[in-house]
Amino acid sequence: MVMNGIRTFHHRDGAARLVCFPHAGGGASAFTALAAALPDDIEVHAVQYPGRQERHREPCAETIEELAAAAATALSGYDDRPLFLLGHSMGALVAFETARRLRGRAEVTRVFASAARAPSAEWEEPDVDRLTDEQMVDGLRLLGGVPEAVLADPETTAEILRQLRADVRALRRYRCGDRAAVAAPLTVVLGTRDPKNSVAQMAEWARHTTGDHAVETLPGGHFALLEHPAEVAELLTRSIRADLDEHANAARRPDAPAPADLVRRILVAGLDGTRPPLSTDLTTLEETARSKLTPDAFAYVAGTAGSGATGRANRAAFERRLLVPRMLRGTVRRDLGVRLAGQRLPAPVLLAPVAAQTVVHPEGELATARAAAAVGLPFVLSTFAGHSLEEVAGQSGQVPRWFQLYLPSDRKVAESLVRRAEASGYTAIVLTVDAAWLGFRPMELDNAYSPFLRGTGIANFTTDPAFRAGLPDASDPAAMVRRWAEISIDPSADWDGLAWLREATDLPVFVKGILHPDDARLAVEHGAHGLVVSNHGGRQLDGSVPALDALPAVSAAVAGRVPVLLDSGVRSGTDVIKALALGADAVLLGRPYVYGLGLAGRQGVEHVLRSLLADLDLALALTGCASPADITPDLITNPPLPSLPVD
Ligand code: FNR
Ligand code: LAC
Repeated sequence: MVMNGIRTFHHRDGAARLVCFPHAGGGASAFTALAAALPDDIEVHAVQYPGRQERHREPCAETIEELAAAAATALSGYDDRPLFLLGHSMGALVAFETARRLRGRAEVTRVFASAARAPSAEWEEPDVDRLTDEQMVDGLRLLGGVPEAVLADPETTAEILRQLRADVRALRRYRCGDRAAVAAPLTVVLGTRDPKNSVAQMAEWARHTTGDHAVETLPGGHFALLEHPAEVAELLTRSIRADLDEHANAARRPDAPAPADLVRRILVAGLDGTRPPLSTDLTTLEETARSKLTPDAFAYVAGTAGSGATGRANRAAFERRLLVPRMLRGTVRRDLGVRLAGQRLPAPVLLAPVAAQTVVHPEGELATARAAAAVGLPFVLSTFAGHSLEEVAGQSGQVPRWFQLYLPSDRKVAESLVRRAEASGYTAIVLTVDAAWLGFRPMELDNAYSPFLRGTGIANFTTDPAFRAGLPDASDPAAMVRRWAEISIDPSADWDGLAWLREATDLPVFVKGILHPDDARLAVEHGAHGLVVSNHGGRQLDGSVPALDALPAVSAAVAGRVPVLLDSGVRSGTDVIKALALGADAVLLGRPYVYGLGLAGRQGVEHVLRSLLADLDLALALTGCASPADITPDLITNPPLPSLPVD
């Protein structure tokens, strides 16, 4: 059966999925024997390119990228089990490009590349438009793979040559920089007598992964992969099972105690007189920060718009709602993990993008990224960061990192930021839409203080080639700040801005700052992969509705089509449960971790995150939930709300 261009050989409830990509001139059926030889725990699929077999009426693709984009779209939903990609010859390039496009949509556990040179290497493909059919057939014979009996049939041969010519043209058009890399480890498989490729050339694949790289050889020529199904099945199974074991071990690593174990650790340390570095009540950190941070830094972080009504209402919205827990459910073993945008998170919590973190601590975002990585939660880096996105990426380890984008009015700069985020391994983009202008913030204004005008929080611009190219003198700091003020946020952006971003990147795009259900619908219609219900922590439009109150209507409007996240006022584990009970898939934590950073650097951020997760873990247990999926609307009281737009 072929659906969305993917053939499924047999549905199995197996532990893993293997998706195969055929060679030039080949079709999905090339993998029939291999699929049959693989064991039951591996469900096998193959991509059917347009223009062949069931899809012979469709025109062949003109580029490798086109094939990969279609495969990535088809495979985006394949995120329920570990996904492995296997490409043979040209198919290896399609598999590689597909893995690049799946980043952030489905996690690829390993890519197998067979009989293929590295993507950045010269493939030395002939100009097929200058070859006669006879010369093409000679080429086929040299490589093998097409039985003589098939070549004896002129009609079938003509069909094969039509596909082969189209594919080789696509191969000749393909270009890949030598820095393009996937996060998935790569195994290169090569027949030792492949007339097209040598084992020495296979080393070049190493630069195309940030994971590990291995080379496996097989007896045979260019088609060794397809000619020895039993042997190849054995090799693939060994490698796939080793990866699965590693995943399973990582999940139940003994050094990863339950988050609630923090309580025991703190109390035991107390026997020696040790106290936690900061309060575990995250609502109190603001008061501690008031006396410890510089007045300017405190005003910037704590500040809200106007009289602070929305800032206070954010908290009141959480406090007004109460939990109605369930008992005797025996929730001893809990799993806080969720999947979001194809990524596994250890808890439904991310670190919200917060600008200019070097204002509160010299290590700023670098320390935050290290703390987030230690706990395993994604950090959403602000466009307006104190350190460049490349530097921050270097501190994030293997934990997914997201990039928040303010859409610059200079789209060349916007494009450059997106490319840099992709190249540095960010796996999602959060487009913030509620700050076309920064709000009217008396605390900042009364101190006459903006970090940006003092050159803090513009590192992604000062390091950006497109930004620097727009400056007459890129060594003049004042000129940089002036240019930043001119172009950093496009106040004229409309929904086309989102459409532009969707075009500009294959990464999933979340739209942050949505409160109205109609905007939620529009965002989904314009291709958003997810939403963040947020009023920017009350910093933008004072008097706007608390994010938590806006959540149910947004969640109803989205109707499960994309994930819905929430921030603004989250301070505790029970707040997370309340947000999930009202329809959020995850939350973002804002100011508390920034206070942690200002008060105790990386350790302070880690303390805040671990406290939140411990509280969440216990709150799950105490509401009778074994996982976030068990959090249902009946667990929360629904007090009357101020009237909100609903259909
Ligand atoms: C923010 N926020 C924010 N959001 C964004 O998309 N890009 C940004 O650069 C910033 N910068 C920023 C700076 C500071 C100092 C704060 C406090 C907040 C908003 C942030 O992502 C989030 O929406 C709120 O912080 C959530 O509210 P709480 O948790 O702070 O109440
Ligand atoms: C702020 C912006 C930068 O809230 O998002 O300060």
